[in-house]
Amino acid sequence: MDDNRVIIFDTTLRDGEQSPGISLNTTEKLEIAHQLARLGVDVIEAGFPIASPGDFEAVQAIAREVHGPVIAGLARAHAADIERAADAVRDAARPRIHTFISTSDIHIEHQLQSTREDVLGQARAAVAHAKSFVDDVEFSPMDATRADVEFTASVVAAAIEEGATTVNIPDTVGYAMPDEYAAFLRRLYDLVPGLADVVLSVHCHDDLGLAVANSFAGVQAGARQVECAVNGIGERAGNASLEELVMLLHTRAADIGFATGVQTREIARTSRLVSRMTGYPVQPNKAVVGRNAFAHESGIHQDGVLKERSTYEIMDAASVGVDDVSSIVLGKHSGRHALKSALEELGFSVSGQALNTAFKRFKEIADKKKQVTAMDLEALVTDELRTELASYTLEWFDVEASSRRPPHATVAIRTPDGALVQGNFTGDGPVDAIFRAINTATRREARLREFRIDAVTGGQDALGEASVILEVAGQSAAGQGVSTDIIEAAALAYVRALSNCERKVADAAEEAEAERRELTPAP
Ligand code: KIV
Ligand code: ZN
Repeated sequence: MDDNRVIIFDTTLRDGEQSPGISLNTTEKLEIAHQLARLGVDVIEAGFPIASPGDFEAVQAIAREVHGPVIAGLARAHAADIERAADAVRDAARPRIHTFISTSDIHIEHQLQSTREDVLGQARAAVAHAKSFVDDVEFSPMDATRADVEFTASVVAAAIEEGATTVNIPDTVGYAMPDEYAAFLRRLYDLVPGLADVVLSVHCHDDLGLAVANSFAGVQAGARQVECAVNGIGERAGNASLEELVMLLHTRAADIGFATGVQTREIARTSRLVSRMTGYPVQPNKAVVGRNAFAHESGIHQDGVLKERSTYEIMDAASVGVDDVSSIVLGKHSGRHALKSALEELGFSVSGQALNTAFKRFKEIADKKKQVTAMDLEALVTDELRTELASYTLEWFDVEASSRRPPHATVAIRTPDGALVQGNFTGDGPVDAIFRAINTATRREARLREFRIDAVTGGQDALGEASVILEVAGQSAAGQGVSTDIIEAAALAYVRALSNCERKVADAAEEAEAERRELTPAP
Protein backbone atom coordinates (compact mmCIF):
# COMPACT_ATOMS: atom_id res chain seq x y z
CA MET A 1 0.00 0.00 0.00
CA ASP A 2 1.03 3.59 -0.72
CA ASP A 3 3.02 5.00 2.25
CA ASN A 4 0.59 7.91 2.66
CA ARG A 5 -2.62 5.90 2.47
CA VAL A 6 -4.45 6.01 5.82
CA ILE A 7 -6.60 2.96 6.65
CA ILE A 8 -10.03 3.94 7.98
CA PHE A 9 -11.07 1.47 10.70
CA ASP A 10 -14.70 2.11 11.58
CA THR A 11 -15.82 1.15 15.08
CA THR A 12 -19.36 2.61 14.96
CA LEU A 13 -20.84 -0.86 15.46
CA ARG A 14 -18.55 -1.78 18.36
CA ASP A 15 -17.23 1.18 20.40
CA GLY A 16 -20.04 3.37 18.96
CA GLU A 17 -22.65 0.88 20.04
CA GLN A 18 -21.27 1.05 23.60
CA SER A 19 -22.86 4.52 23.96
CA PRO A 20 -25.57 4.52 26.65
CA GLY A 21 -29.03 3.63 25.32
CA ILE A 22 -27.87 2.42 21.90
CA SER A 23 -29.11 -1.08 21.18
CA LEU A 24 -28.92 -2.03 17.53
CA ASN A 25 -30.20 -5.41 16.43
CA THR A 26 -28.73 -7.53 13.65
CA THR A 27 -30.86 -6.07 10.83
CA GLU A 28 -30.03 -2.50 11.85
CA LYS A 29 -26.31 -3.33 12.18
CA LEU A 30 -26.35 -4.96 8.74
CA GLU A 31 -27.97 -1.87 7.21
CA ILE A 32 -25.27 0.34 8.73
CA ALA A 33 -22.49 -2.09 7.72
CA HIS A 34 -23.69 -2.09 4.08
CA GLN A 35 -23.63 1.70 4.11
CA LEU A 36 -20.12 1.71 5.66
CA ALA A 37 -19.00 -0.52 2.78
CA ARG A 38 -20.56 1.96 0.32
CA LEU A 39 -18.74 4.75 2.16
CA GLY A 40 -15.50 2.90 1.45
CA VAL A 41 -14.10 2.29 4.94
CA ASP A 42 -11.27 -0.25 4.98
CA VAL A 43 -12.16 -2.12 8.18
CA ILE A 44 -15.50 -2.56 9.95
CA GLU A 45 -15.22 -3.55 13.61
CA ALA A 46 -18.58 -5.29 13.64
CA GLY A 47 -18.90 -6.02 17.36
CA PHE A 48 -17.68 -7.90 20.43
CA PRO A 49 -18.89 -11.46 19.74
CA ILE A 50 -18.50 -12.85 23.29
CA ALA A 51 -20.57 -9.96 24.75
CA SER A 52 -23.97 -11.52 23.94
CA PRO A 53 -25.63 -13.96 21.52
CA GLY A 54 -27.04 -10.90 19.68
CA ASP A 55 -23.54 -9.44 19.21
CA PHE A 56 -22.24 -12.75 17.90
CA GLU A 57 -25.12 -13.09 15.45
CA ALA A 58 -24.63 -9.56 14.11
CA VAL A 59 -20.86 -9.97 13.59
CA GLN A 60 -21.45 -13.29 11.84
CA ALA A 61 -24.15 -11.82 9.57
CA ILE A 62 -21.91 -8.87 8.64
CA ALA A 63 -18.98 -11.23 7.96
CA ARG A 64 -21.21 -13.26 5.64
CA GLU A 65 -23.08 -10.49 3.84
CA VAL A 66 -20.98 -7.33 3.71
CA HIS A 67 -18.30 -7.38 1.04
CA GLY A 68 -15.33 -5.11 0.55
CA PRO A 69 -13.97 -4.09 3.96
CA VAL A 70 -12.04 -6.32 6.38
CA ILE A 71 -14.49 -7.51 9.08
CA ALA A 72 -13.07 -7.44 12.61
CA GLY A 73 -14.39 -8.96 15.84
CA LEU A 74 -13.16 -7.73 19.24
CA ALA A 75 -11.86 -10.13 21.92
CA ARG A 76 -10.30 -9.69 25.35
CA ALA A 77 -7.00 -11.56 25.77
CA HIS A 78 -8.90 -14.68 26.82
CA ALA A 79 -9.03 -17.94 24.86
CA ALA A 80 -12.86 -18.11 24.99
CA ASP A 81 -13.25 -14.55 23.64
CA ILE A 82 -10.80 -15.20 20.83
CA GLU A 83 -12.51 -18.46 19.84
CA ARG A 84 -15.92 -16.75 19.80
CA ALA A 85 -14.54 -13.88 17.68
CA ALA A 86 -12.87 -16.37 15.31
CA ASP A 87 -16.19 -18.21 14.88
CA ALA A 88 -18.06 -14.97 14.22
CA VAL A 89 -15.71 -13.59 11.53
CA ARG A 90 -14.84 -16.95 9.93
CA ASP A 91 -17.00 -16.46 6.82
CA ALA A 92 -15.67 -13.00 5.97
CA ALA A 93 -13.53 -12.77 2.82
CA ARG A 94 -10.98 -10.88 4.96
CA PRO A 95 -11.47 -11.64 8.68
CA ARG A 96 -9.60 -9.93 11.51
CA ILE A 97 -9.42 -10.64 15.26
CA HIS A 98 -8.73 -7.59 17.43
CA THR A 99 -7.52 -8.58 20.88
CA PHE A 100 -6.64 -6.28 23.77
CA ILE A 101 -5.37 -6.12 27.34
CA SER A 102 -4.52 -3.11 29.51
CA THR A 103 -0.91 -2.08 30.12
CA SER A 104 -1.48 0.81 32.57
CA ASP A 105 -0.75 0.10 36.22
CA ILE A 106 -4.12 1.67 37.16
CA HIS A 107 -5.93 -0.99 35.14
CA ILE A 108 -3.55 -3.85 35.97
CA GLU A 109 -3.80 -3.23 39.71
CA HIS A 110 -7.45 -2.22 40.14
CA GLN A 111 -9.35 -3.78 37.28
CA LEU A 112 -7.39 -6.87 36.25
CA GLN A 113 -5.95 -7.36 39.79
CA SER A 114 -2.94 -8.84 38.13
CA THR A 115 0.75 -8.09 37.50
CA ARG A 116 2.75 -6.68 34.60
CA GLU A 117 4.39 -10.08 34.11
CA ASP A 118 1.03 -11.79 33.83
CA VAL A 119 -0.28 -9.16 31.35
CA LEU A 120 2.79 -9.68 29.16
CA GLY A 121 2.16 -13.45 29.15
CA GLN A 122 -1.56 -13.03 28.42
CA ALA A 123 -0.92 -10.63 25.53
CA ARG A 124 1.58 -13.03 23.97
CA ALA A 125 -0.73 -16.03 24.38
CA ALA A 126 -3.76 -14.12 23.04
CA VAL A 127 -2.03 -13.01 19.83
CA ALA A 128 -0.63 -16.51 19.27
CA HIS A 129 -4.09 -18.01 19.80
CA ALA A 130 -5.78 -15.50 17.46
CA LYS A 131 -3.07 -16.17 14.88
CA SER A 132 -4.02 -19.86 14.89
CA PHE A 133 -7.41 -18.81 13.40
CA VAL A 134 -6.66 -15.81 11.13
CA ASP A 135 -3.62 -14.14 9.54
CA ASP A 136 -4.87 -10.64 10.25
CA VAL A 137 -4.51 -9.99 14.01
CA GLU A 138 -4.70 -6.59 15.68
CA PHE A 139 -3.40 -6.05 19.21
CA SER A 140 -4.26 -3.12 21.52
CA PRO A 141 -2.55 -2.33 24.85
CA MET A 142 -5.58 -0.70 26.47
CA ASP A 143 -5.11 2.59 28.39
CA ALA A 144 -1.64 2.78 26.81
CA THR A 145 -1.40 6.57 27.11
CA ARG A 146 -1.49 6.32 30.93
CA ALA A 147 0.88 3.35 30.97
CA ASP A 148 4.64 3.11 31.34
CA VAL A 149 5.99 3.42 27.80
CA GLU A 150 8.83 0.89 28.36
CA PHE A 151 6.42 -1.76 29.68
CA THR A 152 3.92 -1.06 26.86
CA ALA A 153 6.80 -1.42 24.38
CA SER A 154 7.70 -4.84 25.78
CA VAL A 155 4.07 -6.00 25.42
CA VAL A 156 3.84 -4.59 21.88
CA ALA A 157 7.13 -6.31 20.96
CA ALA A 158 5.75 -9.64 22.25
CA ALA A 159 2.54 -9.16 20.25
CA ILE A 160 4.56 -8.50 17.08
CA GLU A 161 6.76 -11.55 17.72
CA GLU A 162 3.60 -13.67 17.90
CA GLY A 163 2.40 -12.30 14.55
CA ALA A 164 0.23 -9.21 15.21
CA THR A 165 -0.14 -7.38 11.90
CA THR A 166 -1.62 -4.15 13.34
CA VAL A 167 -0.70 -2.56 16.67
CA ASN A 168 -3.24 -0.07 17.97
CA ILE A 169 -2.38 2.42 20.72
CA PRO A 170 -5.60 3.49 22.48
CA ASP A 171 -6.05 6.71 24.39
CA THR A 172 -8.82 4.85 26.20
CA VAL A 173 -9.87 7.62 28.56
CA GLY A 174 -9.22 10.59 26.26
CA TYR A 175 -6.42 11.92 28.51
CA ALA A 176 -3.61 12.55 26.03
CA MET A 177 -2.62 15.80 24.35
CA PRO A 178 -1.54 15.83 20.70
CA ASP A 179 2.22 16.45 21.26
CA GLU A 180 2.34 13.99 24.11
CA TYR A 181 0.52 11.29 22.12
CA ALA A 182 2.81 11.76 19.10
CA ALA A 183 5.87 11.60 21.40
CA PHE A 184 4.55 8.35 22.95
CA LEU A 185 4.20 6.79 19.49
CA ARG A 186 7.66 7.97 18.40
CA ARG A 187 9.16 6.50 21.57
CA LEU A 188 7.45 3.18 20.79
CA TYR A 189 9.03 3.23 17.31
CA ASP A 190 12.43 3.70 19.00
CA LEU A 191 11.88 0.96 21.56
CA VAL A 192 10.26 -1.63 19.25
CA PRO A 193 12.14 -2.01 15.96
CA GLY A 194 9.51 -4.50 14.69
CA LEU A 195 6.84 -1.76 14.85
CA ALA A 196 8.09 -0.39 11.54
CA ASP A 197 7.04 -3.66 9.84
CA VAL A 198 3.39 -3.64 11.00
CA VAL A 199 0.59 -1.09 10.74
CA LEU A 200 0.51 1.36 13.64
CA SER A 201 -3.04 2.40 14.54
CA VAL A 202 -4.56 5.14 16.70
CA HIS A 203 -7.77 4.94 18.76
CA CYS A 204 -8.63 8.14 20.61
CA HIS A 205 -11.54 9.05 22.88
CA ASP A 206 -12.97 12.54 23.09
CA ASP A 207 -13.17 13.22 26.84
CA LEU A 208 -11.20 16.47 26.44
CA GLY A 209 -12.45 17.15 22.92
CA LEU A 210 -9.06 16.12 21.48
CA ALA A 211 -9.88 12.80 19.79
CA VAL A 212 -9.50 14.09 16.21
CA ALA A 213 -6.46 16.26 17.04
CA ASN A 214 -4.76 13.35 18.81
CA SER A 215 -5.54 10.94 15.97
CA PHE A 216 -4.12 13.39 13.46
CA ALA A 217 -0.98 13.86 15.59
CA GLY A 218 -0.72 10.05 15.57
CA VAL A 219 -0.86 9.96 11.78
CA GLN A 220 1.87 12.59 11.58
CA ALA A 221 3.96 10.44 13.93
CA GLY A 222 3.66 7.42 11.62
CA ALA A 223 0.29 5.75 12.27
CA ARG A 224 -1.44 4.55 9.11
CA GLN A 225 -4.68 3.26 10.60
CA VAL A 226 -7.20 5.52 12.33
CA GLU A 227 -10.01 4.07 14.45
CA CYS A 228 -13.08 6.25 14.40
CA ALA A 229 -16.87 6.25 14.51
CA VAL A 230 -19.56 7.95 12.44
CA ASN A 231 -20.83 11.10 14.21
CA GLY A 232 -18.09 10.46 16.82
CA ILE A 233 -20.30 8.13 18.88
CA GLY A 234 -18.71 5.79 21.44
CA GLU A 235 -17.98 5.22 25.13
CA ARG A 236 -18.60 8.36 27.25
CA ALA A 237 -17.71 11.43 25.14
CA GLY A 238 -17.23 9.17 22.12
CA ASN A 239 -14.54 8.26 19.63
CA ALA A 240 -12.76 10.36 17.02
CA SER A 241 -15.35 11.37 14.46
CA LEU A 242 -14.89 9.56 11.14
CA GLU A 243 -16.23 12.41 9.03
CA GLU A 244 -14.01 15.02 10.70
CA LEU A 245 -10.86 12.96 10.28
CA VAL A 246 -11.60 11.99 6.70
CA MET A 247 -12.46 15.55 5.66
CA LEU A 248 -9.36 16.87 7.44
CA LEU A 249 -7.16 14.47 5.44
CA HIS A 250 -9.02 15.25 2.19
CA THR A 251 -9.33 19.03 2.58
CA ARG A 252 -5.68 19.52 3.51
CA ALA A 253 -4.32 16.75 1.24
CA ALA A 254 -2.18 19.19 -0.75
CA ASP A 255 -0.38 20.28 2.43
CA ILE A 256 -0.11 17.00 4.32
CA GLY A 257 -0.17 14.41 1.54
CA PHE A 258 -2.36 11.74 3.19
CA ALA A 259 -5.19 9.93 1.39
CA THR A 260 -8.05 7.60 2.32
CA GLY A 261 -10.29 5.33 0.24
CA VAL A 262 -13.50 6.99 1.53
CA GLN A 263 -16.16 8.08 -0.97
CA THR A 264 -16.75 11.40 0.73
CA ARG A 265 -20.09 12.00 -1.05
CA GLU A 266 -21.54 9.16 1.08
CA ILE A 267 -20.67 10.92 4.37
CA ALA A 268 -23.91 12.86 4.91
CA ARG A 269 -26.12 9.85 4.13
CA THR A 270 -24.07 7.62 6.49
CA SER A 271 -24.30 10.20 9.24
CA ARG A 272 -28.11 10.45 8.88
CA LEU A 273 -28.52 6.66 8.87
CA VAL A 274 -26.39 6.21 12.01
CA SER A 275 -28.17 9.04 13.80
CA ARG A 276 -31.58 7.64 12.93
CA MET A 277 -30.74 4.04 13.84
CA THR A 278 -29.04 4.90 17.12
CA GLY A 279 -31.38 7.70 18.17
CA TYR A 280 -28.32 9.91 18.78
CA PRO A 281 -28.96 13.33 17.23
CA VAL A 282 -26.21 15.25 15.47
CA GLN A 283 -25.65 18.67 17.05
CA PRO A 284 -26.56 21.45 14.56
CA ASN A 285 -23.07 22.97 14.62
CA LYS A 286 -21.23 19.63 14.36
CA ALA A 287 -18.28 19.90 11.93
CA VAL A 288 -18.95 18.40 8.47
CA VAL A 289 -22.38 16.83 9.15
CA GLY A 290 -24.25 19.29 11.39
CA ARG A 291 -27.18 20.94 9.65
CA ASN A 292 -25.45 24.34 10.01
CA ALA A 293 -22.05 23.12 8.81
CA PHE A 294 -22.66 24.77 5.43
CA ALA A 295 -25.18 27.44 6.46
CA HIS A 296 -24.27 31.14 6.47
CA GLU A 297 -26.17 33.41 8.83
CA SER A 298 -24.50 36.81 8.71
CA GLY A 299 -25.18 39.10 5.76
CA ILE A 300 -21.46 39.61 5.15
CA HIS A 301 -20.88 35.87 4.89
CA GLN A 302 -23.94 35.31 2.68
CA ASP A 303 -22.81 38.10 0.39
CA GLY A 304 -19.30 36.62 0.16
CA VAL A 305 -20.50 33.09 -0.58
CA LEU A 306 -22.89 34.32 -3.27
CA LYS A 307 -19.99 36.10 -4.99
CA GLU A 308 -17.48 33.27 -4.54
CA ARG A 309 -18.11 30.11 -2.47
CA SER A 310 -14.51 29.85 -1.23
CA THR A 311 -14.75 33.20 0.63
CA TYR A 312 -16.33 31.44 3.62
CA GLU A 313 -16.37 27.70 2.73
CA ILE A 314 -13.32 25.46 2.94
CA MET A 315 -15.25 22.40 1.74
CA ASP A 316 -17.93 22.07 -0.90
CA ALA A 317 -21.18 20.76 0.63
CA ALA A 318 -21.53 18.53 -2.42
CA SER A 319 -18.22 16.80 -1.59
CA VAL A 320 -19.78 15.29 1.56
CA GLY A 321 -23.11 14.60 -0.16
CA VAL A 322 -25.12 17.26 1.67
CA ASP A 323 -27.09 18.33 -1.38
CA ASP A 324 -26.87 15.05 -3.29
CA VAL A 325 -30.49 14.12 -2.74
CA SER A 326 -32.20 17.50 -2.74
CA SER A 327 -33.57 16.93 -6.28
CA ILE A 328 -35.67 13.94 -5.16
CA VAL A 329 -39.23 15.14 -4.58
CA LEU A 330 -42.32 12.94 -4.96
CA GLY A 331 -45.99 13.81 -4.60
CA LYS A 332 -49.30 11.97 -4.23
CA HIS A 333 -49.46 11.25 -7.97
CA SER A 334 -46.03 9.56 -8.04
CA GLY A 335 -46.22 5.86 -8.80
CA ARG A 336 -44.48 2.72 -7.57
CA HIS A 337 -41.79 3.01 -10.22
CA ALA A 338 -40.90 6.59 -9.23
CA LEU A 339 -40.72 5.52 -5.58
CA LYS A 340 -38.48 2.55 -6.41
CA SER A 341 -36.01 4.68 -8.39
CA ALA A 342 -36.00 7.43 -5.73
CA LEU A 343 -35.23 4.79 -3.08
CA GLU A 344 -32.48 3.32 -5.28
CA GLU A 345 -30.95 6.75 -5.65
CA LEU A 346 -30.95 6.96 -1.85
CA GLY A 347 -29.09 3.65 -1.61
CA PHE A 348 -32.03 1.38 -0.62
CA SER A 349 -32.79 -1.56 -2.87
CA VAL A 350 -36.43 -2.35 -2.15
CA SER A 351 -38.58 -4.79 -4.14
CA GLY A 352 -41.45 -7.27 -3.73
CA GLN A 353 -43.39 -7.08 -0.49
CA ALA A 354 -41.04 -4.49 0.99
CA LEU A 355 -41.76 -2.17 -1.95
CA ASN A 356 -45.51 -2.71 -1.55
CA THR A 357 -45.31 -1.78 2.13
CA ALA A 358 -43.09 1.22 1.42
CA PHE A 359 -45.51 2.35 -1.31
CA LYS A 360 -48.53 2.05 0.99
CA ARG A 361 -46.74 4.07 3.67
CA PHE A 362 -45.58 6.63 1.08
CA LYS A 363 -49.17 7.12 -0.18
CA GLU A 364 -50.44 7.68 3.37
CA ILE A 365 -47.80 10.37 3.89
CA ALA A 366 -48.25 11.90 0.42
CA ASP A 367 -51.97 12.34 1.16
CA LYS A 368 -51.06 14.46 4.18
CA LYS A 369 -48.00 16.27 2.81
CA LYS A 370 -47.80 18.05 -0.54
CA GLN A 371 -44.23 17.06 -1.25
CA VAL A 372 -42.37 13.98 -0.04
CA THR A 373 -38.63 14.72 -0.05
CA ALA A 374 -35.55 12.50 0.06
CA MET A 375 -35.30 13.13 3.82
CA ASP A 376 -38.91 11.97 4.30
CA LEU A 377 -38.27 8.84 2.23
CA GLU A 378 -35.14 7.97 4.19
CA ALA A 379 -37.04 8.42 7.45
CA LEU A 380 -39.91 6.24 6.17
CA VAL A 381 -37.76 3.38 4.92
CA THR A 382 -35.71 3.19 8.12
CA ASP A 383 -38.96 3.34 10.07
CA GLU A 384 -40.39 0.40 8.10
CA LEU A 385 -37.29 -1.61 8.95
CA ARG A 386 -37.98 -1.03 12.65
CA THR A 387 -41.64 -2.02 12.32
CA GLU A 388 -40.62 -5.46 11.10
CA LEU A 389 -38.37 -5.92 14.11
CA ALA A 390 -40.47 -4.73 17.02
CA SER A 391 -41.93 -7.51 19.15
CA TYR A 392 -44.71 -5.24 20.49
CA THR A 393 -46.70 -3.31 17.89
CA LEU A 394 -49.05 -0.37 18.21
CA GLU A 395 -52.47 -1.33 16.76
CA TRP A 396 -54.44 1.86 17.49
CA PHE A 397 -54.78 4.64 20.04
CA ASP A 398 -57.16 7.37 21.19
CA VAL A 399 -55.88 10.48 22.96
CA GLU A 400 -58.14 13.19 24.37
CA ALA A 401 -56.24 16.38 25.07
CA SER A 402 -57.70 19.64 26.34
CA SER A 403 -56.55 22.60 28.42
CA ARG A 404 -59.65 22.14 30.65
CA ARG A 405 -59.18 18.56 31.87
CA PRO A 406 -56.28 16.13 32.20
CA PRO A 407 -55.39 14.27 28.98
CA HIS A 408 -56.51 10.68 28.68
CA ALA A 409 -55.14 7.94 26.40
CA THR A 410 -56.31 4.45 25.42
CA VAL A 411 -54.02 2.12 23.44
CA ALA A 412 -54.22 -1.34 21.89
CA ILE A 413 -50.94 -3.21 21.64
CA ARG A 414 -50.17 -6.53 19.91
CA THR A 415 -47.85 -8.53 22.21
CA PRO A 416 -45.04 -10.85 21.02
CA ASP A 417 -47.34 -13.88 21.39
CA GLY A 418 -50.02 -12.28 19.17
CA ALA A 419 -52.51 -11.22 21.88
CA LEU A 420 -54.23 -7.82 21.65
CA VAL A 421 -54.08 -5.99 24.98
CA GLN A 422 -55.53 -2.62 25.92
CA GLY A 423 -54.62 -0.04 28.52
CA ASN A 424 -55.63 3.49 29.43
CA PHE A 425 -54.23 6.27 31.57
CA THR A 426 -54.88 9.86 32.54
CA GLY A 427 -51.52 11.65 32.49
CA ASP A 428 -49.87 15.04 32.88
CA GLY A 429 -49.84 15.59 29.12
CA PRO A 430 -50.96 13.63 26.05
CA VAL A 431 -47.53 12.03 25.55
CA ASP A 432 -47.27 11.07 29.23
CA ALA A 433 -50.80 9.62 29.06
CA ILE A 434 -50.07 7.43 26.03
CA PHE A 435 -46.73 6.23 27.40
CA ARG A 436 -48.32 5.18 30.68
CA ALA A 437 -51.26 3.61 28.87
CA ILE A 438 -48.74 1.42 27.00
CA ASN A 439 -47.17 0.39 30.33
CA THR A 440 -50.64 -0.51 31.64
CA ALA A 441 -51.52 -2.51 28.51
CA THR A 442 -48.25 -4.46 28.49
CA ARG A 443 -47.99 -4.67 32.31
CA ARG A 444 -44.43 -3.44 32.12
CA GLU A 445 -42.74 -1.06 34.58
CA ALA A 446 -40.82 0.83 31.90
CA ARG A 447 -39.14 4.06 33.06
CA LEU A 448 -38.76 6.88 30.58
CA ARG A 449 -35.14 8.04 30.52
CA GLU A 450 -35.18 10.33 27.48
CA PHE A 451 -37.71 11.62 24.99
CA ARG A 452 -37.08 13.82 21.98
CA ILE A 453 -39.08 14.86 18.97
CA ASP A 454 -37.59 16.40 15.82
CA ALA A 455 -38.98 17.48 12.49
CA VAL A 456 -37.51 15.47 9.59
CA THR A 457 -37.65 18.52 7.28
CA GLY A 458 -38.76 22.15 7.60
CA GLY A 459 -42.37 23.27 6.98
CA GLN A 460 -45.65 22.93 8.83
CA ASP A 461 -46.48 19.53 7.36
CA ALA A 462 -43.07 18.02 8.30
CA LEU A 463 -42.85 14.42 9.49
CA GLY A 464 -42.17 14.11 13.21
CA GLU A 465 -39.40 11.75 14.30
CA ALA A 466 -39.53 10.69 17.95
CA SER A 467 -36.78 9.05 19.95
CA VAL A 468 -37.31 7.38 23.32
CA ILE A 469 -34.88 5.76 25.77
CA LEU A 470 -36.48 3.42 28.31
CA GLU A 471 -35.23 1.36 31.20
CA VAL A 472 -36.73 -1.99 32.11
CA ALA A 473 -35.26 -4.23 34.84
CA GLY A 474 -31.92 -2.40 34.74
CA GLN A 475 -31.56 -2.56 30.93
CA SER A 476 -31.90 0.58 28.85
CA ALA A 477 -32.66 0.75 25.15
CA ALA A 478 -33.75 3.27 22.54
CA GLY A 479 -36.58 3.25 20.00
CA GLN A 480 -37.57 5.64 17.23
CA GLY A 481 -40.81 6.35 15.38
CA VAL A 482 -41.85 8.48 12.42
CA SER A 483 -45.30 9.88 11.60
CA THR A 484 -47.04 13.07 10.52
CA ASP A 485 -48.78 12.86 13.93
CA ILE A 486 -46.26 13.46 16.74
CA ILE A 487 -48.31 11.52 19.33
CA GLU A 488 -48.25 8.51 17.02
CA ALA A 489 -44.49 8.97 16.38
CA ALA A 490 -43.93 9.08 20.16
CA ALA A 491 -46.05 5.96 20.80
CA LEU A 492 -44.28 4.04 18.00
CA ALA A 493 -40.90 5.01 19.46
CA TYR A 494 -42.06 3.90 22.93
CA VAL A 495 -43.24 0.42 21.89
CA ARG A 496 -40.04 -0.13 19.90
CA ALA A 497 -37.87 0.94 22.86
CA LEU A 498 -39.93 -1.45 25.00
CA SER A 499 -39.29 -4.28 22.49
CA ASN A 500 -35.56 -3.52 22.51
CA CYS A 501 -35.47 -3.43 26.33
CA GLU A 502 -37.22 -6.80 26.52
CA ARG A 503 -34.65 -8.27 24.13
CA LYS A 504 -31.81 -6.92 26.31
CA VAL A 505 -33.46 -8.24 29.49
CA ALA A 506 -33.78 -11.70 27.85
CA ASP A 507 -30.13 -11.60 26.66
CA ALA A 508 -28.95 -10.61 30.16
CA ALA A 509 -30.97 -13.46 31.72
CA GLU A 510 -29.51 -15.91 29.21
CA GLU A 511 -25.98 -14.72 29.99
CA ALA A 512 -26.57 -14.94 33.77
CA GLU A 513 -27.89 -18.47 33.33
CA ALA A 514 -24.83 -19.47 31.24
CA GLU A 515 -22.54 -17.99 33.91
CA ARG A 516 -24.47 -19.84 36.66
CA ARG A 517 -24.08 -23.13 34.77
CA GLU A 518 -20.33 -22.50 34.34
CA LEU A 519 -19.90 -21.81 38.07
CA THR A 520 -22.01 -24.75 39.28
CA PRO A 521 -19.64 -27.67 39.88
CA ALA A 522 -20.57 -30.85 38.00
CA PRO A 523 -22.18 -33.40 40.36
O1 KIV B 1 -10.79 2.55 24.09
C1 KIV B 1 -10.21 1.45 24.06
O2 KIV B 1 -9.15 1.24 24.65
C2 KIV B 1 -10.84 0.39 23.27
C3 KIV B 1 -10.02 -0.84 23.04
C4 KIV B 1 -10.83 -2.07 23.09
C5 KIV B 1 -9.29 -0.71 21.73
O3 KIV B 1 -11.94 0.56 22.78
ZN1 ZN C 1 -12.45 2.74 22.70
